[in-house]
Amino acid sequence: MRYPTNDLEHFFMPFTANRAFKANPRLMVSSKGVECTSHDGRTLIDMSSGLFCAPAGHSRPEIADAVSEMLRDCAYVQPFQHGQPAAFELARRLKALYPGDLAYTFFTNSGSESVDTALKIALAYQRAKGQGQRIRLVGRERAYHGVNFGGMSVQGMVKNKEQFGPGLVGVLHMRHTWSGDELFVRGQPENGAGLADDLQRFCDLHGADTVAACIVEPVAGSTGILAPPKGYLERLREICDANGILLIFDEVITGFGRIGGNFAGDVFGVKADIMTMAKALTNAAIPMGAVAVTDHVYDTIMDAGAGAVELFHGYTYSAHPAACAAALATLDIYEKDGLFERAREMSDYFLDAVFALRDLPAVKDIRGIGMLAGVDLAARDGKPGARGGQATQDLWEEGVLVKMTGDTACIAPPFVSEKSHIDRMAEGLRKVFGKY
Ligand SMILES: Cc1ncc(COP(=O)(O)O)c(C=O)c1O
Repeated sequence: MRYPTNDLEHFFMPFTANRAFKANPRLMVSSKGVECTSHDGRTLIDMSSGLFCAPAGHSRPEIADAVSEMLRDCAYVQPFQHGQPAAFELARRLKALYPGDLAYTFFTNSGSESVDTALKIALAYQRAKGQGQRIRLVGRERAYHGVNFGGMSVQGMVKNKEQFGPGLVGVLHMRHTWSGDELFVRGQPENGAGLADDLQRFCDLHGADTVAACIVEPVAGSTGILAPPKGYLERLREICDANGILLIFDEVITGFGRIGGNFAGDVFGVKADIMTMAKALTNAAIPMGAVAVTDHVYDTIMDAGAGAVELFHGYTYSAHPAACAAALATLDIYEKDGLFERAREMSDYFLDAVFALRDLPAVKDIRGIGMLAGVDLAARDGKPGARGGQATQDLWEEGVLVKMTGDTACIAPPFVSEKSHIDRMAEGLRKVFGKY
């Protein structure tokens, strides 16, 4: 083992019960394809693609080679007023994949940075149009948009807000789209399009000309895989168009083939003005995020700032050469191995396996679309989250990794999974959830 595993004290771990973890660690020392190996010699199958981010399977040598070559040739170039050809090439390649009118790409280092960047671009766009009074941002309950201040403010997960004060002012939240009336829905629920009218109500109450943008995950991911009700995204688009509001799709999870098209915008046939990405962009090999905007958004900001810096925003590591090399190698793999197509083909087998768990008494609801599914477990003894914490440990013992959020299992297998991996996952989930 390259690094010691006996002194874990000084890492302040993210979104982790630190002391409990350090008393009973779950450390991974190798990850290859669909499998990971723990420090104590277990083999586990990774059925959440890490955190929804490695659909091509872990530790792909093609990506490692591209990154290594770039780090030897040109490890860093400052991205302000200078550039590196790989960044321009990546933006060109991405444009060919984008849905709708998205055409230009701003690079970041994570999904959280992408969300904050998208919100700032929306505000800058409105100001460029002479609409600087549009400062309100609209998000949704049960949304997750990362952890930076903008994303924290527009997201709707209670625990992610309560330690940190009010966040941005002027943020409004629409209701979430899971009603509990339609259970075990595969694909989009039939009812609930009218929930989009919350956006219209905010316009009526606060003045449409105070609202800059509305941000949604087309399928809410981290809070349990909530596909949009039929007609919901279309209605949001209509309201945005009628009121001069930008529509932002946060596709940090849904992007790059996860739900059956290149992006969710393709799957649902609804155009966003701005779209965020991260995770699968580099197959998780190097941190990177991105924000796509339409010609119209780009040109409006360029025209207003002509001759000077048009957007006073960027990161030291925007379009880092190693990340660009990783992303280009990742796109090559997606294309060469036909992985989005493979995800589409495997979806039925995967969803059949997950929905077969519905007979278990502890399973209260299952939702799924593409290669993404959420399984709600009944809370234990009125303590929300306790069963989820237990399930993380029990699934570890069972050799299956899925992401638990509260009492919900979020499942997102790598697109390179074989049917045998799906079978093994289903067996492990049944064994663990079956005893609750
Ligand atoms: C929809 C969405 N937006 C933003 C983020 C934040 O991404 P990151 O953890 O890379 O900052 C996530 C992470 O899961 C996400 O699911």
